[in-house]
Amino acid sequence: MAGKERLSELSEPLSQAVASLDETGPAGAGHGARPICASSDLADGGDGVRFEVEHKAETVPAFAIRHGGRVYAYVNRCAHIAMELDWNPGKFFDTDGEYLICSTHGALYAPESGACRGGPCRGTGLIRLQVFENDGRVYLRKD
Ligand code: FES
Repeated sequence: MAGKERLSELSEPLSQAVASLDETGPAGAGHGARPICASSDLADGGDGVRFEVEHKAETVPAFAIRHGGRVYAYVNRCAHIAMELDWNPGKFFDTDGEYLICSTHGALYAPESGACRGGPCRGTGLIRLQVFENDGRVYLRKD
């Protein structure tokens, strides 16, 4: 029950953030590129930015982070149990900023691939989303 309550608490501000973004992608980026946030919103190994994405005909929580100078994004769903990784919104990295960590039971994921690196994810990784940067913004590339 706590997880559902947490989801509903987070969904409203997240929806507002998504709704406030300009839905037009950058020139030359192709159709369907959706802005997520400013590039400067993502510090290397720092807080992530939460957003929502359509995945398998469902709107699901997702997040973007920066690691090694590059931006990555994943569906915000642990491979152990379908829980969001960040108990505190945007806190996806472990204390060293080396791995993404699930706050529920401590599963560790590689930031550059979403692959399981330890804990109860047992070899199953995160669902990766395609993102890119253009002119100081981060975009989600739609299929
Ligand atoms: S729900 Fe993520 S490690 Fe268990």
